[in-house]
Amino acid sequence: MRLDDSIDNSRPTSQPIAVDLFCGAGGLSYGMKRAGIAISAGIDIDPACRHPFQANVEAEFCEKDVAELSPQFLESLFPANSVRILAGCAPCQPFSSYSNESPRHNAQWQLLPKFGEMVTALRPEIVTMENVPRLRGYAVFDEFQGALRQAGYYYDYAIVRCAEYGVPQSRRRLVLLASRLGPIQMILPTHTESDFATVRNSIQHLPPIEAGRASPSDPLHRSSALSAQNLARIQQSKPGGTWRDWDEDLRADCHVKQSGKTYPSVYGRMEWDQLGPTITTQFHGYGNGRFGHPVQDRAISLREGALLQTFPKGYSFAPDRGTIHISSAARLIGNAVPVKLGEAIGKSIVTHIERFHD
Ligand SMILES: C[S@@+](CC[C@H](N)C(=O)[O-])C[C@H]1O[C@@H](n2cnc3c(N)ncnc32)[C@H](O)[C@@H]1O
Repeated sequence: MRLDDSIDNSRPTSQPIAVDLFCGAGGLSYGMKRAGIAISAGIDIDPACRHPFQANVEAEFCEKDVAELSPQFLESLFPANSVRILAGCAPCQPFSSYSNESPRHNAQWQLLPKFGEMVTALRPEIVTMENVPRLRGYAVFDEFQGALRQAGYYYDYAIVRCAEYGVPQSRRRLVLLASRLGPIQMILPTHTESDFATVRNSIQHLPPIEAGRASPSDPLHRSSALSAQNLARIQQSKPGGTWRDWDEDLRADCHVKQSGKTYPSVYGRMEWDQLGPTITTQFHGYGNGRFGHPVQDRAISLREGALLQTFPKGYSFAPDRGTIHISSAARLIGNAVPVKLGEAIGKSIVTHIERFHD
């Protein structure tokens, strides 16, 4: 939003290159790559990210704790004279509406300030950060913006409706872009309500499967098993409906809090011609949100979750003959920045560099 007088105006000479902190399975990196940005490396503490990141993004994966990174190590990942892009989608759990914990008591809360320290020490030309909208209410976000201002960055952030960039979800995310080259912001939306991608366009073409089974032709098209009680519940669930559609004897105490507050969207089914819900790391469980398939009696499969996150069909999450653990694959998929949002972030950066980099 402002350019500090002390800004270093020396211009790098070559291609934009990104390093992705907290790279996960590579949703953001893959999207940025599609937008024309070369990815030099991704860093994540979770070893399960190595295969999907390397196989799909085709860049170096560093299994490291970001809290212990040095600016020198980070600098070494960028080729000399590149336009350096530092991406950092720190874990959102401490700030998420699903978390009851105070962020100050969560070690992960330290990771956003650490990202700010890296920006200040390295002074990359471009910075991008994505998180849950609630981050806006926390002091750490104010402090992060303060660090950007002090280091002389222009920056802008917005609460982005992912559906406006082609993602078939109601998901909203805070996206921040910062640059030392000039003012930067997200590109205009590519979709409006009239042409939003829907659950139907995204997953209806897949072969039917039963709860607890996988498709013989696609090991990722696999859904969690259901208890007899949950099978009876989903059989009575209507697309877009709630547990209030069920017979009394199927209702559970936890559906209604003592305060009287209800949870209408747990144990829900998706609707074909609507946006899906935000795909979380728990999307494989029918009881964890509106994750019931629109017409089949099961939660959505890993493949369906990946498609709703706009990962392409061929995205590899595990080695060919490797075992896919449902909860670990769902964590990688649900944690990701949807690829199409990553692509829109990448296009915003490419457009900005074309305009401001000489
Ligand atoms: C929101 S996800 C990032 C998703 C990723 N940007 C994508 O698009 O696929 C946050 C990631 O931070 C990683 N993480 C959590 N704590 C970390 C730490 N201390 N150091 C490095 N990575 C960490 C998690 O393993 C997770 O993959």
